[in-house]
Parts: sequence; structure tokens; C-alpha cells
Amino acid sequence: MTLKEKSTPRRKREIEDILLHDETIFKNINAFDPDYLPENYQYRDSQMEALAVCIRPALKKGRPSNAVVLGSCATGKTTAMKKIFEMVERSSESVICCYINCQLHTTRFGIFSQIYQRIFGHYPPETGVPFSRIYQKIMQHIVSEKKALVVALDDVNYLFHSKNANKIFYDILRAHEVFPGARTGVFGILSDIEFRHALDKNVNSIFIPQEIIFQPYLREEIFNILKERTLLGFYPEVISDEILEEIVNKTSESGDLRVGIDLLRVCGNLAESEASRTINEKHLDEALKRTGPVSLSHTLNSLSKLENNLLELIINYKDGNLTAGILYELFLKKTNTSYSSFNRTLDKLEFLRLIDTKFTGKGIRGNSRLIILRFSQDEINKCMVQP
Ligand SMILES: Nc1ncnc2c1ncn2[C@@H]1O[C@H](COP(=O)(O)OP(=O)(O)OP(=O)(O)O)[C@@H](O)[C@H]1O
Ligand SMILES: [Mg+2]
Repeated sequence: MTLKEKSTPRRKREIEDILLHDETIFKNINAFDPDYLPENYQYRDSQMEALAVCIRPALKKGRPSNAVVLGSCATGKTTAMKKIFEMVERSSESVICCYINCQLHTTRFGIFSQIYQRIFGHYPPETGVPFSRIYQKIMQHIVSEKKALVVALDDVNYLFHSKNANKIFYDILRAHEVFPGARTGVFGILSDIEFRHALDKNVNSIFIPQEIIFQPYLREEIFNILKERTLLGFYPEVISDEILEEIVNKTSESGDLRVGIDLLRVCGNLAESEASRTINEKHLDEALKRTGPVSLSHTLNSLSKLENNLLELIINYKDGNLTAGILYELFLKKTNTSYSSFNRTLDKLEFLRLIDTKFTGKGIRGNSRLIILRFSQDEINKCMVQP
């Protein structure tokens, strides 16, 4: 088809139809967004209660208790944290709750800029103001306004890599030594139980937390959560219980609730693009293709040369357990890059969920981290574009 043909009035009308077509099977498409906060949040009552118990003293002019929130991926940790913070802020003005994603903010300055923004409604200037001034302004504010500060550090393991965890915990938890009357607490959120003792090691004795565990959801719970999501997101009868059961099976197999939510969204989009009023088997098959290996190949093909090099070394290592220390030696030989650049590249592969790293508790500079490939060598090779 030529360009001229493509832009005929009829073709233009068809494209406009797709864009403006106001019939939809989605009652609320945002119900499938990654950061959607469900109104009805089931199966986590005891964890929410435990979080409330930790914050409660802060509402009574006392000091909040510290907590570590543990659980594998998509068990609702971030959701629980955000929900409890919303509840606290709705019921009291005496506690400042600050949620921070440590994948995005890893430096002292970055983290305290977030706290500053939460309190004063704007960020501090990025240059020209020393960290100590920003810190002082925050702590003086909470003392003079008689407020408590509770900071949730989500995916806190990212602070171990940048070696900032100890300083940041110290800054928050020992503020009262320099600013008498400062009441502060930290909730550290971890998605890998293996990091539990790394947390102790990284923050020494300043952080003695309550442990709050988020167990994986049972199959029946996954079904009910996804069913509820379909009722929120789709109009009635768009999806049958049979198709939903299949999605629940895939979700259960993967152990990740996000897989199910993603499948629902993609199935909905596929059905809608064909102007179908219901989701059928064909849409699910296609969605499975798109959310599985296709997304893996998309990730692999977006890697930089350095990231590719590192991944290849990991794939081809055959001599037993691979630690960060061994991997760095190999990487240095192959690319002649610095340790910090190696570390950043390794973090990026983990962030992309291509690998997992687990602390073994031994070694220096994080070199004892075990490197584990999340996909089989075959799966990765199939998806990689051959040069
Ligand atoms: N009990 C629940 N009811 C309804 N939706 C839930 C529930 N638990 C989790 N979800 C949904 O599952 C998804 C993942 O939840 P969340 O981000 O809170 O998990 P997480 O434990 O923080 O995961 P990660 O460790 O990967 O950060 C979100 O879309 C959330 O809305
Ligand atoms: Mg989370």
C-alpha cells in the first residue's frame, strides 16, 4: 500500500474510529495499572494491623516503632504501605508519612529531597545548598511543629549496593541526638528474604525492627483478587470464569500476581482492538505470547553493549556458584571497566529482572553476592538478536 492510499478519507475515518470509538469493554482501565491502589484490599489485615501498631505511638506523641516488611514479589507490600500511610494522614496531622522508592532514590541527598518535598511541598535546590542545611530544616520543622516522621524505604536493598544504607538509617533514626524531641521511624521494605541479614549487617545496631511478613497468596486468594479486579476494570460479562481460571493458573505458576493483572489488561486491549465485546481463548493465547518471551526479547534487545557483555559472561559461566567477585574479574578482563561501572551494570540487570543477586553474608564490597540467572540459557538465547 502506498502512502497516498493510506491517507484516503476512508482510511482516515477508520483510524479516527479506532481513536475515538467510544464503546469500550473497560469500565475503568486504570484498574490494571501497576500503581493502582485497590479500594478493597483483602488478605492483608494482620499485616496492616502490625503496621498500625508500629505507627500508633507516633499518634500519641511517642516515637514510632521501626519495622522491616518482608515478602516475595507482588505480595502487596507496597500497596499495604501506601494504604496505611493514607489512613494515617487522613486521621491525624501529627505524623508525616513519607514513602520512598529506593530503586529511584539511592543517595542521601536524593532521599532527603523526597522528605523535604513531602514536608514543604517543593524540592530543595539541587546545587548550592549543602546536605546539612536540608537535613537541619527537616528536623527543625518536625521538632517545632511537634510532628513525628515515618519514612518507608521501599526496595531498601538498593541502598546496600550504593553503600548508603547505614548513613541514611543513621540520619533518620539518630536525629533526636542532635535535635532533641525529634521523633522518627523507618519501615524498610524487602522483597527478598535473603536480604534480611544483609540489612542487619548494613545498618548495624541502629535499626532494631519488628518483622512483618507478607506470605505468598494461595491460589484461591489469587482467584478472588483477580476476579475483583475484573469487576472493577471490565463491564459485566466481558470475561468468563473459565478464561479467568486459566489466567489464575498462569499467575499461580509464575508466583507473581502482576502476571495475572497484566494478562487481564492485555486481553482486554486485544479484544477491544477487534471490537469484540468479550475476551475469548484467542485473545488469551495472543496475550500469553506478548507478555511472555516477547517481553523478554524486548528487554534483551534494549540492553547496552556493556550490559550485553555482562549478561553473556553470566550465561556462559559453568563452574558452579557465580559470585559478584568472580564475575567482576571476568568482566574486567573482557571490558577493562571500573568496579563502580560493573556494579551499576549488575544493578541494571537485576532491575530488569534478568538476574537475581543474593547476599551470602561473606566477603567485602558486596563481592559475596551470588548471581542467579532468572531465565534458562535456552530461553535467553532464543530471544537474543544474533549480531
Ligand atoms: N490483597 C490484594 N488485593 C488486591 N490487589 C492486590 C493485593 N495484593 C497485591 N495486589 C496487587 O498486586 C500488585 C502488586 O502489589 P504490590 O506492588 O503492593 O506488591 P509488592 O509486594 O510491593 O511487590 P514487589 O516486591 O515486586 O515490589 C499491585 O497491582 C496490587 O494492586
Ligand atoms: Mg513493591
